[in-house]
Amino acid sequence: MFDKETQCIIGEGGNGYEASISPPIFQTSTFEGGGEYSYTRLSNPTRALLERELAELEGGKYAFAFSSGLAAVNGVFSLLKSGDRVLISDDLYGGTYRMARNIFAKYKIGFEFVDMSDTELLEARLKDGAAMVFAESPTNPMMKVAPLREIGLLCRRYSTVFAVDNTFLTPYFQNPLDLGADLVLHSATKYLSGHHDVLAGAVVTNRAAIAEKLKLISMTLGNALAPFESWLVLRGIRTLALRMEKHQRNAFAAAELLKRMPKVESVIYPGLPEHDGHGLMNDQARGYGGVVTFSVDSAETAKSLIRGGRIIKFAESLGGFRSLITYPLTQTHASIPQEMRERIGITDRLLRLSVGLESERDIAEDLEFMFGCGY
Ligand SMILES: Cc1ncc(COP(=O)(O)O)c(C=O)c1O
Repeated sequence: MFDKETQCIIGEGGNGYEASISPPIFQTSTFEGGGEYSYTRLSNPTRALLERELAELEGGKYAFAFSSGLAAVNGVFSLLKSGDRVLISDDLYGGTYRMARNIFAKYKIGFEFVDMSDTELLEARLKDGAAMVFAESPTNPMMKVAPLREIGLLCRRYSTVFAVDNTFLTPYFQNPLDLGADLVLHSATKYLSGHHDVLAGAVVTNRAAIAEKLKLISMTLGNALAPFESWLVLRGIRTLALRMEKHQRNAFAAAELLKRMPKVESVIYPGLPEHDGHGLMNDQARGYGGVVTFSVDSAETAKSLIRGGRIIKFAESLGGFRSLITYPLTQTHASIPQEMRERIGITDRLLRLSVGLESERDIAEDLEFMFGCGY
């Protein structure tokens, strides 16, 4: 077995086609008579290659590539049935919250938002029976770390399916299936593809029965990833290791700099020893990722910062080559009710920085410029 770094680079290479090093794109919707492939909504060689590589990277047997991260969440929620209870992270991507509340709640699926770090509370809820536990770790945007091994054991004890959104760390830094999860999800729009040029999602599992259902869900909902997009994610994966190391190096530097900025009140980055989840991250992950969340002294300061700098741009999304600053209140987490946002800590003073691949020095200078103390 190769190291993760090598796995990312080699993958299956050209997959045996005409000795190509990079795989071909099977840009076709249909296939002639009766072979392994018949119609691209069901399966396609380029997507199948991506799925095999994602499965290998996550240490799983089965993978499904979806048309976005939310399509992957939709796939996982479609495993549920009316009357099911789901225990889900109280701090999570706003789009996942919106899907739970606005779409799946209609089918009488009950979503209970819990703090995953409180495993006593989680166990008390599990005793009442739950079909699924759905956690992000670290969470978006508060970077809370869930004790995945412990939750995995609890889910086994109470026969509950355990799903983990691994978008922020990618399989390069964390493998939830090895920690007891049954399902791993990704927004491959982010680090996996890494170039701000594709929407994609994925689900990986080791459980044959779940995989069978996901296959049916994907071909029936019609939200599988298209061939060209599959190829873009494959291309992104080739440099995933290199990019994640650099994102992380830059994130450490940005977090340290932000701590010194006069108007910054707190910096939340799990790589910092003072972060609550730092020890847990050291136990269950191989890195901390490239997202730094911070809060400033006033909404006015926050609003002045989102004007951005010369290289840091105000935009939604994370995990690409470019540094982006996001205002969760009005962007990624606008769908979350105010009361819940306030409880979690998503205030008008909170900002999320996805640290890109630019030079450490240029990012530092840009941040200083944005705070009005540089250049
Ligand atoms: C943790 C997490 N999961 C899922 C998604 C949804 O992914 P997509 O935008 O690819 O649909 C996002 C998007 O920001 C995310 O941050």
